[in-house]
Amino acid sequence: MAMTQDELKRRVAQAALAHVLPSLGAGRIVGVGTGSTTNYFIDALASVKERFDAAVSSSDASAERLAAHGIEVLDLNDVDAVAVYVDGADEVEPGGALIKGGGGAHTREKIVAAASEVFVCIVDDSKMVNTLGAFGVPVEVVPMARRSAARRLQSLGGDVRERGGFVTDNGNAVLDVHGLSIAEPHAIEARFNNVAGVVENGIFAVNRPDLVLVGTSDGVREFTPSDGPRP
Ligand code: A5P
Repeated sequence: MAMTQDELKRRVAQAALAHVLPSLGAGRIVGVGTGSTTNYFIDALASVKERFDAAVSSSDASAERLAAHGIEVLDLNDVDAVAVYVDGADEVEPGGALIKGGGGAHTREKIVAAASEVFVCIVDDSKMVNTLGAFGVPVEVVPMARRSAARRLQSLGGDVRERGGFVTDNGNAVLDVHGLSIAEPHAIEARFNNVAGVVENGIFAVNRPDLVLVGTSDGVREFTPSDGPRP
């Protein structure tokens, strides 16, 4: 029987535990992403909270949810290592490159992902695409650069819209770049980050996950992104 998207999110979040627990080394710190799929993961993590020491969070919202479960949340600057990072995505292409940032948390997400030994991405099967782009690319910008960065991003070929009334946890604005079909995620990730005033964009091609878990009505499918190890 077909499952709802929420049921698939819960299923894949639960499946992630089997990958998290064996990855925990000394220090036993779990990195936690942001979003509705990750919320299910946080709830699952609470059921094994005696098996790790603390979490590092990618957003204030996830930090609050972790704390409500009685899970200690540490600043990334206060830990020596993060064993494993688990997070959702807005789009996943077959090579494992992602678009993230639908919730505007992609800057901190990329920082924690990059600081972690292993990155496990958890999605329901609606997130799988052949080519990244239809969702739009979230781009976090310093407030004074909202208009200048938007013009520059527009000149690179996108249809740029400001996310009205939204402020990131870092106090910045978000521009969403629509209308792109991203055949070369590495190149676009780098090009967008070279625009003055851009803090970080939501393409995760350099920092792609080590493992993607996809929740489907038939179970959880796994694949290992093909583009080699993360730098
Ligand atoms: C937060 O900024 C995002 O990167 C989320 O991780 C991503 O949007 C996936 O969210 P959902 O699990 O809610 O779809």
